[in-house]
Amino acid sequence: MRVLSGIQPSGALHIGNYFGAIRQYIDLQRGNDAFYFVADYHALTSVRDASELRGYVFDVIVDLLALGLDPELATLFVQSDVPETTELAWLLTTVTPMGWLEKCVNYKDKVHQGLPAEHGLFAYPVLQAADILLYDADLVPVGQDQKQHLEITRDVAERFNHTYGETFKLPKPHILDSVAVVPGIDGRKMSKSYGNTIEIFDDPKTILKKCKKIVTDSVPVEVPKDPDQDKLFGLFALFAPEGEVVEVAERYRAGGIGYGEVKTRLAGHIADRFAGARERRQELVAHPEKVLEVRANAAERAREAARVVLDRARNACGVG
Ligand code: ADP
Ligand code: TRP
Repeated sequence: MRVLSGIQPSGALHIGNYFGAIRQYIDLQRGNDAFYFVADYHALTSVRDASELRGYVFDVIVDLLALGLDPELATLFVQSDVPETTELAWLLTTVTPMGWLEKCVNYKDKVHQGLPAEHGLFAYPVLQAADILLYDADLVPVGQDQKQHLEITRDVAERFNHTYGETFKLPKPHILDSVAVVPGIDGRKMSKSYGNTIEIFDDPKTILKKCKKIVTDSVPVEVPKDPDQDKLFGLFALFAPEGEVVEVAERYRAGGIGYGEVKTRLAGHIADRFAGARERRQELVAHPEKVLEVRANAAERAREAARVVLDRARNACGVG
């Protein structure tokens, strides 16, 4: 089965991204033909500095490799290394009704947050449809927030097929909504745009500093508490071994556990969980030529697959 997903290079990856997306990518690379890419064309809607963007692209590749994406199992490429993407996006644009894009929550949210109402942001879902259809993807693992984009992908593919004859395979979304939303240090959803993240590759000292800042209530230590109502405990449960989670939950219910202790233990677990990945990352950064080789090989494989589908689409609509 062809599995495909993309991740925007718009800043350092955080533990919300890990539990919400990356962990699933790594699981799905076994037993599937997995294609994962760094969506740099998409990132141009928010990153406006060339060297910053290049840095982010390199970082995402290195981060994913360090976390366990295996270039022997998965094709890990950069979106713009396959310029066929933008041509397909144009072909799809010509059959996409304005109304479908106008109702996109993502666009409306971003403009509401203050991003300028530019055409790239508006047409973002069409570019995403091109990403997916270009590789005949069967399954697209994404978070709940991408559901609408996948619906548009299927609608655009159906409309093109209806207009020009069977051209595109309709992909199935694989919505990762069983994954709980990981809270940030201020208690809201962890997100780059809220500045409340703990990054996967933060060093142990920074992790501890950030954990200490996790917002908690001011209920006195001795008062019993419901662990399930506490975001700090939610984070702790993601990282600590099961026995420890049970122990800490019991102490919450009995009263007498201080949040400071939970924060310190949580920081230790986060640092431990990613210790191996941090080491692998350092090795990769010391050998950028290896990273570039992975990128070049993957680009070749991805382009080969893309050309077949783009030719099919060009023939169907009569260009070229
Ligand atoms: P951010 O909100 O930091 O900009 P992105 O929108 O780039 O993150 O998200 C990339 C992927 O990580 C998406 O698949 C998204 O569903 C997942 N993700 C992001 N934040 C979280 C979170 N706090 N909890 C779970 N998954 C998340
Ligand atoms: N829009 C996705 C996000 O912000 C990233 C993305 C771009 C993507 N193209 C894709 C995800 C194709 C899945 C398939 O998370």
